[in-house]
Amino acid sequence: MAEEYAGKSTIEEIRDRFDGDVERFTHLETGQISITDASLMMELITASALAATPEMKRVLDIGCGAGNNTLKLLSRKPDLDCDLVDLSGNMLFRARERVGGATKGSIRTHHGDFRTLPLEPESYGVVLAAAVFHHLRDDGDWERAFEKLYRITAPGGSVWITDLISHETREIRTLMEARHGEFLEEIGGREYRDRVFSWIEREDTPRPLTYQTELLRKSGFGCVEILHKNGNFAAFGAVKV
Ligand SMILES: C[S@@+](CC[C@H](N)C(=O)[O-])C[C@H]1O[C@@H](n2cnc3c(N)ncnc32)[C@H](O)[C@@H]1O
Repeated sequence: MAEEYAGKSTIEEIRDRFDGDVERFTHLETGQISITDASLMMELITASALAATPEMKRVLDIGCGAGNNTLKLLSRKPDLDCDLVDLSGNMLFRARERVGGATKGSIRTHHGDFRTLPLEPESYGVVLAAAVFHHLRDDGDWERAFEKLYRITAPGGSVWITDLISHETREIRTLMEARHGEFLEEIGGREYRDRVFSWIEREDTPRPLTYQTELLRKSGFGCVEILHKNGNFAAFGAVKV
């Protein structure tokens, strides 16, 4: 991995951190509170998945955490077959428990790194990826991940992403980070802001929304949609037409 990523958490460190952080990801109503408009973005990707792919049968949730995004989709379309992917065994255990109580469809769990897990090509009507791609590092990593996303999506299927994003212009990056800091301080004071910022510094390498929508197109998706952007967070997606 390039020099600029040398100080960042390894995949094992990320796994261990999330293994000890399950409770924070189990609030379906609010989503993750450190994310601006978390609940709105969850609502938007759910509604968009339903609108773009009403006939979906199988959903894949990449970096499912405790299963919030799959649960939200099941609340509107019950009995989907659900595939849950996570690095963290503790997250996956909780997700299976919660999703198991919400669908009569099948549940498959995939424990590991989605970049290397063997996932069946063209088999998912809907793919969800919430707050996970910001752990991707260099260009090759992003390109291979988005190519895989395209490969596993069924023809006519759709993918929906919510995530921490960056910006192309240094000054805009600084501006948006300051606004994110104010948002975090309002929730939990300076200590909370500093804690979240130190996670971001250690673990995350987000990319601009423009970079990601261009990459979706380059990976083969025919229709690319931006659903929402507020500061350092965005909800967007694409359809494999
Ligand atoms: C910030 S949490 C978000 C959880 C959930 N998507 C949500 O929105 O509530 C990120 C999750 O992605 C998982 N994760 C990070 N990198 C991953 C990877 N390469 N493959 C699979 N899971 C990953 C982490 O273990 C963690 O559970």
